Amino acid sequence: MSVSSQPQTIKAKQALYQELLEKLQQLIGNETDFVANAANTAALLFHSLPDVNWVGFYFLRGGELVLGPFQGKPACVRIAVGRGVCGKAAASMETVIVPDVCQFPGHIACDPESKSEIAVPLLNWGHLIAILDVDSAKLNRFDEDDQEGLETLASVFVGSQVTEDLPDLSEELAQSS
Ligand code: SME
Repeated sequence: MSVSSQPQTIKAKQALYQELLEKLQQLIGNETDFVANAANTAALLFHSLPDVNWVGFYFLRGGELVLGPFQGKPACVRIAVGRGVCGKAAASMETVIVPDVCQFPGHIACDPESKSEIAVPLLNWGHLIAILDVDSAKLNRFDEDDQEGLETLASVFVGSQVTEDLPDLSEELAQSS
């Protein structure tokens, strides 16, 4: 029983992300406003993903991460690149999965109930523009299927924006050149 239930669980998760992809595309439609689409993306994920207690965005502004639209308890407003889970994802520009936040050095605890976390970088033509952060009150909540699903949703979200509506990257670009 336990052997056959694992593939079904994975399939169910992949099916959920496929459903979310279609819902997100419908929600965004032709809307290009970055904040409005971020707000609806956070709400869709918060109310659709099982066992999550925080879903939201941190935008890269002036070289640091600044809180954007989210669902969940109030969170810390500014995170330095390199600090915490979000800062690590920003610095590496790669998704970070943390099975147990207590074991992650430098984890920034916004909601003490959060036990595991995934932070997905949003990239625009190779440049970081934001982090999508999802927390869970369950240990080891996120796996490679969540990573793949959330990265796909993040790319749809970024791709829906027209260049003029994306956050101003000029300062970040100047610093990196
Ligand atoms: N735990 C995050 C901070 C953001 S909150 O989880 C909403 C971190 O360590 O970067």
